[in-house]
Parts: sequence; C-alpha cells; structure tokens
Amino acid sequence: MLKDFFMGLSQNQFLNNTAKKYGLKMGAQSVVAGTNIPEVIKSIKELNAQGISCTVDHLGEFVFKKEEAIAAKEQIIKVIEAIHENQVDAHISLKPTQLGLDIDYSFCLNNIREIVHQASQYKMFVNMDMEDYKHLELTFQLLDELSLEYDNVGTVIQAYFHNALEYLERYKNFRIRIVKGAYKESAEIAYQDKKDIDANFIHLIEWHLLNGKFTSIATHDHRVINHVKAFVKQNNIPHNQFEFQMLYGFRKELQLSLANEGYHFCTYVPFGNDWYGYFMRRLAERPQNLNLVAKQVLNKKTKTIIGVAAGAFLLGRITKPNQNKRRR
Ligand code: FDA
Repeated sequence: MLKDFFMGLSQNQFLNNTAKKYGLKMGAQSVVAGTNIPEVIKSIKELNAQGISCTVDHLGEFVFKKEEAIAAKEQIIKVIEAIHENQVDAHISLKPTQLGLDIDYSFCLNNIREIVHQASQYKMFVNMDMEDYKHLELTFQLLDELSLEYDNVGTVIQAYFHNALEYLERYKNFRIRIVKGAYKESAEIAYQDKKDIDANFIHLIEWHLLNGKFTSIATHDHRVINHVKAFVKQNNIPHNQFEFQMLYGFRKELQLSLANEGYHFCTYVPFGNDWYGYFMRRLAERPQNLNLVAKQVLNKKTKTIIGVAAGAFLLGRITKPNQNKRRR
C-alpha cells in the first residue's frame, strides 16, 4: 500500500510543479545534493574529501517539449564545465528521456552527442541511465551510434530482465553499471520475484567482472556487496577494474567504510529543482526512508503537500483501481 502510494505520487504533475516552487523540502535535502550547480559542486567536494568519486545527475523527467530538453542539455554541459573548472572527481549520469528520447530519436541523439563531445574534451565519462523497457533498445542504439565517435560513454544493465545476460554480452567492452532494476515491468520480460532478481544480479556481476571492461556495481544491498568482496578476492580481480556505487544520502557509513577499505566508490549525486519524482520513487523503493520525512514533517508547507497528495492518491485509487503500469 505505501509502495503504491509513493509510486502514485511520483507521477503526479500537479504535486511535482508545486514541489518545484518550494525548493528542497520533505526531507529531500537528505538525498538530493542541492538545486543548483554551486550546491552540487560543494557536495562533490565533500565526498571527494572522503575518497569518494561522484556521478552527477541533473534531475528531470517527463520531458515532452523540445525547449525543456534543450535547457536540460545546456544545464548538463554547464555541470561538465563546473566539474572541470573545480577539478573535482566526478562524471555525468543522464536520462535519455530528459534529452528528448520521447520527442524524436535524432533530436535526442544530437543532444546527447553534444554532451558526450563536451565531456570527451576533459576525458570525462558519461553514463546513460537505463529507464523502462520501452526505451531499452533505443538507449542501446544511442550507445551504438555514440560509440562510433566517442569512447567515454556507457550504460546500465538491469538484472530483472530475462535477457540481461545477453545484453551484457553485447556490451561487455563498455564500462557498464549493473543494477537490479527500478521500473515496473511485466512477467513476460522480467523476473518478479526478489530472489530471482538477486540471483541474476550476482550472476551478471560475476560474469562482467570476469569478462567485461570496467564494472560499476550499484546497490545498497550489503549481502551482494559482501559476496562481491569475497568473489574479487578469490578471483584476483584488481580493484581498478570495478567500483561500488550507491545513491547520495543512503547508507552513508557503508559508503565511507567501503572507500576506507580501499575499494573504488562512486556516489550517484542528483541535483536540481525537479527532485520530487526521484524522491518519491526512493520512498516507494524503501518506505523505511520515511524517517527522512519524519524529521521534516513539522514544516507547514510539507504537511500541505502530503495532505493534498494523500487526498489525490485515495481519490485515484477509488476511480482508477487498476492503474499499475507506473514508472518506479
Ligand atoms: P534492495 O532495495 O533490493 O534492498 C536489498 C537489501 O539491502 C534490503 O533488504 C536491506 O537489507 C538493504 N538496504 C537497501 N537499501 C537500504 C538502505 N537505504 N538502508 C539500509 N539498508 C538498505 N535502476 C534502473 O532501473 N536504472 C538505472 O539506471 C539505475 N541507476 C542506479 C544507480 C545507482 C548508483 C543505484 C544505487 C541504483 C540505481 N538504480 C537504477 C536503482 C536500482 O535498480 C534499484 O532499484 C535500487 O538500487 C534498489 O535496489 P538495491 O540493490 O539497492 O537494494
């Protein structure tokens, strides 16, 4: 129920727009590193000082207007410049749909090409996050085309897909982030059972560590992390061939202890005004994250947003009980 509640909220455009006006609220400041470039650079410097590198995500979703996609591209290029000028240890993560994949493929390709080109001037890596299944082959196509010109681009493989190993084999010569998968997909194409997803996740990580280029293992799951630590030791896999990744603000002590143990560690650092959908999906993923909200709940505006949201959600459940094809 709580999971559905937050998933429903993550899609609500009215609340998204309302939240943008209020700045970072509802505890989002714990998991979003600011709304502008100076704030995100400050957060990166703090993480770098602890031996942690960063991948920076300019938040945004549901982009169906060309001018918004262009604005996002310009902002990401400014981030690249800021990373370079400040000489911080960071690279870029981006979402193809923020750059126009739902508008027009060539338009999106050109936007991402400009970003990858700018990053290539500074030998900076650009990761294309993987969104839902609908965009999977198009994202691979973007990677295929961009890699003809540039070698600083890679993507993500989601372990919940039955075909994930096939995708991994196809892209074994790329720097690949492996994740469990965050979107709601059908049983025809994706494992639904957590045990199956976890088992495939470990299988893919092991396979790519043995056969692939650089592997980013993105998870907060200490069981998987402990398994990987033992596996790399047994197989003499050098530390410069992989890294662990987690999201900004989550399991901070574990992030730091992995860095202190000598593993390469990279924090995914989201920033920007469009924080609401990202934040709600994190609450859906793990409702225990609600304690972040609890600390902020005395804030009057937050109460208003949550109140309106609860009303909207309950009304939605009464009128549209079967609406379950939602983005996670
Ligand atoms: P999961 O949610 O499966 O939890 C497993 C166990 O870990 C829990 O039972 C608990 O014991 C522990 N745990 C988890 N979170 C915890 C917390 N906050 N505190 C304490 N214990 C905790 N997805 C996608 O589809 N496309 C993408 O491009 C990306 N990119 C991406 C980048 C990075 C850096 C990360 C970390 C994740 C993504 N994801 C993603 C999201 C990913 O697919 C997945 O949905 C989430 O990481 C949740 O799965 P986990 O493996 O982290 O733990």
